[in-house]
Amino acid sequence: MSKIIVNNVDVKGKRVFVRVDFNVPIKNGIISDDRRIREAIPTIQHLINQGAKVILASHLGKPKGIPVPELSLAPVCVRLSELIRRSVVMAPDCIGPAVAKLVDAMKEGDVLMLENVRFHKGEEKNDPEFAKALSALADLYVDDAFGTSHRAHASTEGITRFMNPPFAAGFLIQKELKYLGDALDNPERPFVAILGGMKVKDKIRVIRNLLKKVDTLIIGGGMSYTFFRAKGYEIGASLFDKDALEIAKDILREAESQPGKILLPIDCMVADKIDSGAQTKIVPVDQIPECYQGVDIGPQTVELYIKIIKEARTIVWNGPMGVFEYDQFEKGTRRIAEAMANSKAVTVIGGGDSAAALEKFGLAGKMTHVSTGGGASLEFLEGIYLPGIAILTDA
Ligand code: 3PG
Repeated sequence: MSKIIVNNVDVKGKRVFVRVDFNVPIKNGIISDDRRIREAIPTIQHLINQGAKVILASHLGKPKGIPVPELSLAPVCVRLSELIRRSVVMAPDCIGPAVAKLVDAMKEGDVLMLENVRFHKGEEKNDPEFAKALSALADLYVDDAFGTSHRAHASTEGITRFMNPPFAAGFLIQKELKYLGDALDNPERPFVAILGGMKVKDKIRVIRNLLKKVDTLIIGGGMSYTFFRAKGYEIGASLFDKDALEIAKDILREAESQPGKILLPIDCMVADKIDSGAQTKIVPVDQIPECYQGVDIGPQTVELYIKIIKEARTIVWNGPMGVFEYDQFEKGTRRIAEAMANSKAVTVIGGGDSAAALEKFGLAGKMTHVSTGGGASLEFLEGIYLPGIAILTDA
């Protein structure tokens, strides 16, 4: 999956439309996690250095096609400008005469931030008229929005129908494809995948795709309780994914012929409520008391999983081992993250919640690669060819 990278394209003096994913958490104008902005800087800086006119486009949140002031990209523009130590002009919209005027006034090395593309209904509908209006702003298209590459929207896909190739990948997409792609297609073995999080249904295709590739698939977190239920265990008040029960049974049946390929927790922490100050116990997974629910993997499971992690040479992790947002229930996720941080393996983290857990534990910098994609990295791990990647010109 080799794509043309931005440094192989002559951008000097050109108006370059760069789709980035600046969909960052913002509350009252304050950005609580600017990683997606920082990760786009190598591409932006390269374009500035090469004398391009850099036109940045992104969505933020889900404004559903109308302007929502709280979802303006203005705070992102300010943060970007601080990070690159350069003024970045904030456009009042992403299309229209006022924006065209700002673009016309740009000089080489200037940076313009367009307003939230999802303020227009045409973005998510991938409307050709809207895509065409976006395309009119620029000479070249560069995509560095890995986090949005699973969406075939006007600014991630449709726009390329109205522009001339090459459509180049930015350095962030290059990095994401390298680490996620190599892990899936060319892993050093043993290759271990660790999957957690709540919904089995959301991860079913990931499980199936990874089972074809990994040596061991470790399961933890909320989704384990669906598997326990599929095994016929009583799971007390634990949440489970009813719709995925039959699929979980199928997966367990398929795994019977390969003993040790799928590992499920052997013990877990249960709590009488999901709140700080809850009563907790450690129990074997087939002895969960009636009014208790599973909130974390137990200490024996942690030891078992750490042993596998120590031997691994490639690890892909998606989804926490428990409700790590509460300090009381974070131990399993923290110990697994620490074991990964200390391992010799290539460690690739896909997905929002696992990345958030690493931030909480201060361990993000200890991993080989933490993906900026949530849904996108999940779909990548499913083996789906993402539309935002598919449109990029092959190298
Ligand atoms: C994300 O945060 O996963 C991406 O920015 C895509 O956002 P979306 O789920 O609103 O399309």
